[in-house]
Amino acid sequence: MLRDRFGRIHDYLRISVTDRCNLRCLYCMPEEGMEFADSSELLSYDDIVEVVEAAAGLGFRRLRITGGEPLVRPGLDGLIRRLKAISGIEEISLTTNGMLLAKQAAALKAAGLDRVNISLDTLDSARFRFIARRGGLEQVLAGIRAAGEAGLGPIKLNCVLLKGVNEDEIQSFLRLSVEQPLHVRFIEYMPIGHADEQWRSHYLPLTAVMEAARGLGLPMAPLAEMKGNGPSENWAFEGASGSFGLIHPVSDRFCARCNRLRLTADGSLQPCLYWVDELNVKPALGSREALEALFRRAADIKPENHEMAAKLHDEAISHTPTSRRMSQIGG
Ligand code: GTP
Ligand code: 5AD
Ligand code: SF4
Repeated sequence: MLRDRFGRIHDYLRISVTDRCNLRCLYCMPEEGMEFADSSELLSYDDIVEVVEAAAGLGFRRLRITGGEPLVRPGLDGLIRRLKAISGIEEISLTTNGMLLAKQAAALKAAGLDRVNISLDTLDSARFRFIARRGGLEQVLAGIRAAGEAGLGPIKLNCVLLKGVNEDEIQSFLRLSVEQPLHVRFIEYMPIGHADEQWRSHYLPLTAVMEAARGLGLPMAPLAEMKGNGPSENWAFEGASGSFGLIHPVSDRFCARCNRLRLTADGSLQPCLYWVDELNVKPALGSREALEALFRRAADIKPENHEMAAKLHDEAISHTPTSRRMSQIGG
């Protein structure tokens, strides 16, 4: 079991398979795109399998495949099939923008994928084009339907709230959780890969969601049972088909419950989403011992918590934030 200095057990690995994406969400990537990693810099699927074998030996049980947009990397179902066969790996989930999901959902399920989380920040197609800087709402909605039909549930939607952009849709998303068997998670905008000013002007604390939920006038209660490995706090309206969740890293950080490490597409093991520290796995490939040592080191240097909230008030922080963008980490 991989335990860090603060007693937190790590059994969840988030694996980014690409930094590329077919959208350009304004909270994630610059409009013009970025300098993407050359394919020669990416871990190959063989490399990823090797890293996961070492992780499984240390007690990792759950995997999440992320990007950029993971479904733009060819042959992902083949990788999932290989990862699922590794002794000790119990669950594999995927975080996707949904654009390519309708085409791939059945093959992913057949390969052993358990469930998907799909990013969706608006239910309005013009606004989708504004946030994602490309069209595609209908494609994502088709992806959500296909994922349901393929049995990749519980299907979770990830909605990043942006002040002045989509806060007026909170109640529409909440109603969606009543009408459909979808778990809608609202996410606080994090200051990763952004000028502080731009982030501050769009950051919205999730207290806005609870106010909007009370405004609907329906009885609601915390949800104890929800399949998941992440930090979401879950609720449901009485009699609803679905439920909703709150992910509030900034206003109320959940680092004390952290159970994960991240592997970037270019081969860095990241102890924390926010801080700059990372360890290159490439020199350790080929040696189980060296890979295990790297995981132990990642746990040893993992900080107790992040300090995103300090950025709200321009307070000093103890450590250097990562210069990576979200698409280069995987969220
Ligand atoms: P479940 O297993 O379904 O609970 O997945 P998850 O919530 O762990 O994964 P997902 O990729 O859907 O993440 C949802 C949001 O939570 C993303 O915006 C992530 O960046 C954010 N998130 C996930 N893990 C962490 C974390 O350790 N720290 C912070 N600050 N945010 C996180
Ligand atoms: N703050 C919060 N969430 C973000 N995501 C991407 N960038 C940010 C950010 N700056 C979300 C995506 C996706 C998940 C992996 O991370 O919408 O749902
Ligand atoms: Fe692509 Fe996800 Fe970033 Fe949007 S948030 S640009 S969908 S990686």
